[in-house]
Formats: sequence, C-alpha cells, structure tokens
Amino acid sequence: MSDRPKVFVSRVIPDDGLRLVLDEADATVWQDDMPPSRDELLRSVEGCAGVLTLLTDRVDDEFLDRAGPQLKVVSNFAVGFDNIDVAACTARGVAVGNTPGVLTETTADLAWALLMAAARRLVEGDRYVRDGHWRTWGPMLLMGPDVHGATIGIVGFGRIGQAVARRARGFGMRILYQDLHRASPAVEAEYGATFMTLEGLLPQSDFVTLHVNLSEETRGLINRERLGWMKPTAVLVNTSRGPVVDSLALAEALQNGHIGAAALDVTDPEPIPVDHPLVGLDNCLIVPHIASASRATRGLMATMAAANLLAGVRGERLPTPVNPEVYDRPVG
Ligand code: DGY
Repeated sequence: MSDRPKVFVSRVIPDDGLRLVLDEADATVWQDDMPPSRDELLRSVEGCAGVLTLLTDRVDDEFLDRAGPQLKVVSNFAVGFDNIDVAACTARGVAVGNTPGVLTETTADLAWALLMAAARRLVEGDRYVRDGHWRTWGPMLLMGPDVHGATIGIVGFGRIGQAVARRARGFGMRILYQDLHRASPAVEAEYGATFMTLEGLLPQSDFVTLHVNLSEETRGLINRERLGWMKPTAVLVNTSRGPVVDSLALAEALQNGHIGAAALDVTDPEPIPVDHPLVGLDNCLIVPHIASASRATRGLMATMAAANLLAGVRGERLPTPVNPEVYDRPVG
C-alpha cells in the first residue's frame, strides 16, 4: 500500500498541474472527456484525502459522506464554486480551493469578443458567406450598433468586471456599474465608472455584461421584468453563470425585439439542448463555456488547483482557500 495521499482528479487537466499531482499523490485521474456520472464520482472519491473537482461535479453532503472523514480538501478547477456546498465542507473541516486571479484577463477577453461579435454580427456574417448569400456589397447589410462611444453597464464590478471596464475605456465608452458594494472613489476614478442601481443601469446601457457569482441573490437576476427595462437595441453578454439569466425570458425578449441581441458563454441548462428556444435565434450567439480557455490560463488554473490540492492533503493552508474560516474551527 502506498503511503502517498490518495486523491481523485475528476478530469484530465493540463499537464502543468497534473504532473505536480502525479509526482506527489496516489492519484486516480478520470480519463473520459465526459465527466464521471454521479455514481462513478461517488465511487471514485471513497477514501480520498483530496479531490480535484470541476464545475461539473456537485460536492454536497452525499459526496462528503461517501468520501469519508479523512477527506481534507476539495480543490475546484475554476474560480466559481457554486457546484460546491461550501458550508457543508467547512462544517466537516474540509478546505475548499478555487483559482482566482489567473483567469481574469482571459475571461474579460472573451466577454469582449462576445460583445464585439454580437454587436457587429460576426457569426451571422460568417454564416451568410458560407451559405452562399454574399452576392454584392449591401448598404444595409448586417448593420449593428457601434461599440465605441456606447454606454456599457457592468453588473458585478469585481476583478473580471473591472478588467472589462479597462477594455471599455479603450473604446471610449461610458461606463456604468452595479455591485453589492460600491467601489472606492479611487477605483471609480480609475475607470471613470458610475455606480448605479440595476433600475438605473439597464435602461441606459447599450451593452450589459454580467460578472456576478451565482448565489441565491443572483439566480434569475436578469428576469423578464428586468429584460423589459433594457433598450430594444441592447446587447446582453453573459460570461458569469447561466442561471443568472432566465433563459426562457431571454429567448422571448430576443424573439419579440425587446432587446437586440445576446452573446452567451454560459447557459441554463448547460450544455444547452439544441432544441432550446435560444439556439437557432440569429440574434443569440452561444459558445460552450470557454471564457477561461486560453492555453496559458488553463495551465495556470491547473497549477493553482494542484497547489491547493497538495497543500490540503499535506495538512497545510491552501494558497487560495474559499473557506478560510475552516482554519478557525475548534480542533477535536
Ligand atoms: C470559472 O473558473 O468559474 C469558469 O467558469 C471556468 O473557467
């Protein structure tokens, strides 16, 4: 029997991190492209000291029961951790890690790419050419709104929201933002950003981009009523989590011209079925949750997730714990 800590890694992650795990732990790595089924996941975590999870793995009491009391750490390969019941982990003394910071700029790049692509109708244009419809230059062909000089409403003004604001500044945009907490005057001045309620922000924004965590407060934040507050020409960009937007209400708003377009990296449900009303709408662009998918960033995420996992199984403090309160629990 190996005296190395037993860990489960629920998908093949970039080598930068995987190598670190394999060097130090007795690791089982799920090899399939598809995630383990619930049963397979529960079976795989039995007796583990650490588990490296993905956002497709639900970590809850059932998972923790099956893993057993020796479990020390759950290290999520993502900055978001809405797949994990953090309170349940804390109650059992299990540290939870995530990968903040390293994916900020890459995610903002994708949000920007979606915003530009939806505004300038790039996917529709590409399809138009490939389908053989391009017969001449057209004075009215595939017109869309200008990005430069427009008003952008950033909902969630944390690391990624602010990274989007930096891009918006470069395009000479007016920047509005909404967040649970108002940013400091210095941050507002740095971005030239104006704090607003959603009621104020949505009717004024040509582009609305979402950068909030998924929580009970933000689930369904962009609902039918709030979509109704937006401009008929507005573009909605979502790179946060699918359930932040009511997807059926969004489909209706896009179909009825209540808003202009949407560009989504995340959907509800995920993956989105091809017969979902959002799929097939020309004014809805959807990509498969790839905001952090640059080679460099995924490598950094892997290294960080491995560092959290290995610190946890050694009994050390995680470099980036989600639940630092776990270290304040009385021992014994
Ligand atoms: C995250 O990290 O939360 C993203 O959704 C995947 O990179």
